[in-house]
Amino acid sequence: MGIAEVISNHLAGGVSKIGAAEARELVRIGAEKTDKLKALNKSDQAKWFAQRDINYIRNYHEKDRVANKKRKLYTSSLLTDWDILGLTFDSFVPRPESVAHVNRAKKWAKVLAQGEHHGRFVMFGTAGTGKSWLSASIANYVNTYSSAYKRQQVVLYLSATRIGDLAKLVKSNSFGKEAESARKQWQVVMDAVKGRQIKQFDPSVGHDISFRQDFANLIVIDDLGRENKSGSNAEHFKSLMFDLLDAIHKDASIIVNSNYTMAELSSMYDNDGALTSRMFTTKQEQILDFRSLPMFRATEN
Ligand SMILES: Nc1ncnc2c1ncn2[C@@H]1O[C@H](COP(=O)(O)OP(=O)(O)OP(=O)(O)O)[C@@H](O)[C@H]1O
Ligand SMILES: [Mg+2]
Repeated sequence: MGIAEVISNHLAGGVSKIGAAEARELVRIGAEKTDKLKALNKSDQAKWFAQRDINYIRNYHEKDRVANKKRKLYTSSLLTDWDILGLTFDSFVPRPESVAHVNRAKKWAKVLAQGEHHGRFVMFGTAGTGKSWLSASIANYVNTYSSAYKRQQVVLYLSATRIGDLAKLVKSNSFGKEAESARKQWQVVMDAVKGRQIKQFDPSVGHDISFRQDFANLIVIDDLGRENKSGSNAEHFKSLMFDLLDAIHKDASIIVNSNYTMAELSSMYDNDGALTSRMFTTKQEQILDFRSLPMFRATEN
């Protein structure tokens, strides 16, 4: 239901459509007559109330929209381990060797949450050095704080292993329950990546213009290259990755983390760079090299 429809329902007495608590709030707003208001004639008073209601309903919808965008991280991500979405910059005390990496990641998080800069960010190097931890911390930071900076960003966390698993089913000619469910899951991801296509009349040009709203602003691709080790079909994976990367909005950011260097990944996927050029950057300040760090992950026993 659009705002106009909510308002007209409300003005026609159909307040139940917006919920009891909201209806009570509207009544409360209407009840507080100020002296200034009393001085207005009846028609201006009515306009004043209508405007207050419109503002109220707008805010109400904005809150809803923020919550919906925030939820996308949990409803549309592809994860092997859901605990990852609980990680923040405070989850671990950074090892001294990694303090510079952590600080750089915090800087990226802030810039991305502010929503004024977008681009490609890459973390690569040794296993167990905090690439997934820091990628997830950035994702959580942006998801939690972006609304306080400027506007709520839509964040998605996509594990390359899961993309590889889905690719096998989505891109093969297989049918049946498993393939059907994989296609549905992939559709959820793609819908979140693309956002909504809106058509709206633009009086300045005199016709409808269409644009995308609520598209994903930040997409993390975790552990790129790992899908290769877990036996994913390389052609199917590449094909699904092309679909994904082409759907990502031009104003969105991508963070990729991997055990492999960018050169290794480029030769793994392509020789002309068609796939990797969509994800990689040459800006040194947007690349974190973890190769010199020792593995921090606690090994069993
Ligand atoms: N800088 C760090 N300071 C403290 N602990 C860390 C740090 N980096 C990693 N760890 C520990 O190691 C674990 C593994 O980290 P993480 O999964 O982020 O590594 P990774 O670089 O993504 O590894 P992989 O390449 O295998 O995916 C963390 O859960 C944490 O316990
Ligand atoms: Mg990792």
